[in-house]
Amino acid sequence: MKELSAHLCCLLFLVASFVPLGAKGQDNAATQPDSLVEIQSLPRLKDIYAKDFLIGTCLDFYSPDTYSARDLEVIKSQFDVATPENSMKPGNIHPSEGQWDWAAADALMKFCQENSIQVTGHTLVWHEQTPNWFFLDANGDKASRQQVLARLKEHIETLVGHFKGKVKGWDVVNEVVRDRPDPNTENLRPSRWFHAIGSDYITWAFKYAHEADPNAELYYNDYGIEQGAKHKSSMLLLKRLIHDGAPITAVGIQGHWSLRNLPYKELDQAIADYQSLGLKINISELDVTLTGSGGGQLNPGGNAGASATPASGGVSSRRRRFPTPEQLQAQADGYAKLFQIFQKHKDAIIRVTFWGINDHHSWEAGRRPLLFDGQDNPKPAFRAVVQAKD
Ligand code: G3I
Repeated sequence: MKELSAHLCCLLFLVASFVPLGAKGQDNAATQPDSLVEIQSLPRLKDIYAKDFLIGTCLDFYSPDTYSARDLEVIKSQFDVATPENSMKPGNIHPSEGQWDWAAADALMKFCQENSIQVTGHTLVWHEQTPNWFFLDANGDKASRQQVLARLKEHIETLVGHFKGKVKGWDVVNEVVRDRPDPNTENLRPSRWFHAIGSDYITWAFKYAHEADPNAELYYNDYGIEQGAKHKSSMLLLKRLIHDGAPITAVGIQGHWSLRNLPYKELDQAIADYQSLGLKINISELDVTLTGSGGGQLNPGGNAGASATPASGGVSSRRRRFPTPEQLQAQADGYAKLFQIFQKHKDAIIRVTFWGINDHHSWEAGRRPLLFDGQDNPKPAFRAVVQAKD
């Protein structure tokens, strides 16, 4: 019945929305959200793909007005899993030794439980957003290996323990493979964790997380690992971790791509490679920017897209229309092809999580990477993902 209504909904949506791309389909500040009913009547991606994989987004409730009523309607109607964008990162939730700030993470958990949205935790161990105190002794000198390992254990036990039984899975370790290519080694990032503990910090992190919540799925999460040297290094790393007994459930392919570099063939092969190791897959942070070259690395100044406006070749971006209908259609085609690949591998894929609910709530806001524009109007990309259901 659910499937029938989902298809019926698609049909109605396609008929109703088959209108020329007017102001409504544009990211046009003049477009005012007019009703929640409009959002509620859209086809629901979580229902359309219910038999394939979960459909997710990232969220954080930093203040009561983080999201508009219309935003909240998109969240509740489209997604059945959510990832905290920042609130569970080490620096945000564990700012100093013995000090924990649970407020935002608890608010996210409360909202998701009230709206039957599953939660995946992000992220226990990362080279970014991790305060120095983890690596210093009482004198402010470098702490010993034992001391840093004890802090790693305590951080994971406390955080995973706090949400035990409420979190579907955890990004245990995030982005340890370096960008600079070295395909014949694991090519580990020389992070403070690596220098303080050694390369076995990754296995310890997985073991601590499993001890803290034996029922939680555990993920290795990274960007760019679906292709090239990073893919080769990630395979060497995962084989070693599995050999050393790290309890890994899945690999998170983040999926921060751009129109310029959608790696269809490589992604198809990478999913099969990871599956050959006995691992499942998360598409964990999906966005497809209209400009730029994608990638999950942070710009030195922070979010890549929030401040960036697309290169306008000398013509003021205000004068050049952005996004153009052609860019929006190319993005729609790109997302459609990605969802064909995801459906081909639906037995391996746990979830497809978009990294944001709309082009306003996105770390790459200036590059319009998502399915809804800044006023929660569905873009051609949304229609394309609806239609991509096989
Ligand atoms: O909350 C503070 C605010 O109080 C302050 O006024 C403002 C200006 O300094 O900063 C705000 O914190 C920002 C935070 O996002 C919340 O907006 C941080 O500076 C900013 O660095 C942080 O950026 C996040 C980035 O990770 C770094 O943690 C992005 O939102 C988030 O989308 C991005 O997500 C990462 C994944 O975790 C890992 N994979 C790559 C992905 C993109 O970089």
